Amino acid sequence: MEVVPLSSADAVAALAADTIEALVRSRPACVLGVATGSTPVPTYAELVARHRAGTGPSYGEVRAFLLDEYVGLPAGHPQSYRATIARELTDDLGIAAERVHGPDPTDPATAGASYEQALLDAGGVDLQVLGIGSDGHLAFNEPGSSLASATRIKTLTETTRRDNARFFGSVDDVPRHVLTQGLGTILRARHLLFIATGSGKADAVAAAVEGPLTASCPASILQLHPHATVLLDPDAAAGLARLDHYREVYAAKPDWQGL
Ligand code: PGA
Repeated sequence: MEVVPLSSADAVAALAADTIEALVRSRPACVLGVATGSTPVPTYAELVARHRAGTGPSYGEVRAFLLDEYVGLPAGHPQSYRATIARELTDDLGIAAERVHGPDPTDPATAGASYEQALLDAGGVDLQVLGIGSDGHLAFNEPGSSLASATRIKTLTETTRRDNARFFGSVDDVPRHVLTQGLGTILRARHLLFIATGSGKADAVAAAVEGPLTASCPASILQLHPHATVLLDPDAAAGLARLDHYREVYAAKPDWQGL
């Protein structure tokens, strides 16, 4: 795991965008794993701004796979993750709707197995963007999730439903059920690009990066992955015991190495 403490949330977005663009340039038909929520919004805005300015790569051959989706929202609901990712990223990058995939919330009983098969058929995810919940969840794998889990239906914790109430107006309107890639699914992505910003994430980041590997902090599976990059702003990094060491390592990193 490479932990990269950066000077600001803007610096996180810029480096995350650089990393995604470098993949798309080197592999135009790559498979991007996309997260929703507030954290990746500045990264996506940066990618879109560069694309509009003509300095970004072409995304015409890219396929995108969502991490998770709410169950029970009407089709086309603006807070569905399929609608969210189209609005925030894929439409503006010119990734056609049929190249954007998510678990099918209309058939939760079979959606998990179908989505796992779709990921296999696509050759797996090259780069997975990840955020973290304030309770340590990864995608919608809440504390207690199997470290080997596959895509399946899950029940959100009260903490997550309260955290997400800002998107719905009230906590009562936040769906209770979701479909989410499992922790075992996420571990199969070839590169995990984990980003966290803001003081509300400091405890969860410290637990994920420096705490024990445990289902009680699903994001701690980062420690099991052979290529996990953790981009943090100063607030999100504030709980890390080895912060000075991570800074020193990144400052001395040779240019040829990349992320
Ligand atoms: P946030 O959510 O980016 O909206 O904070 C992250 C998550 O729940 O994984």
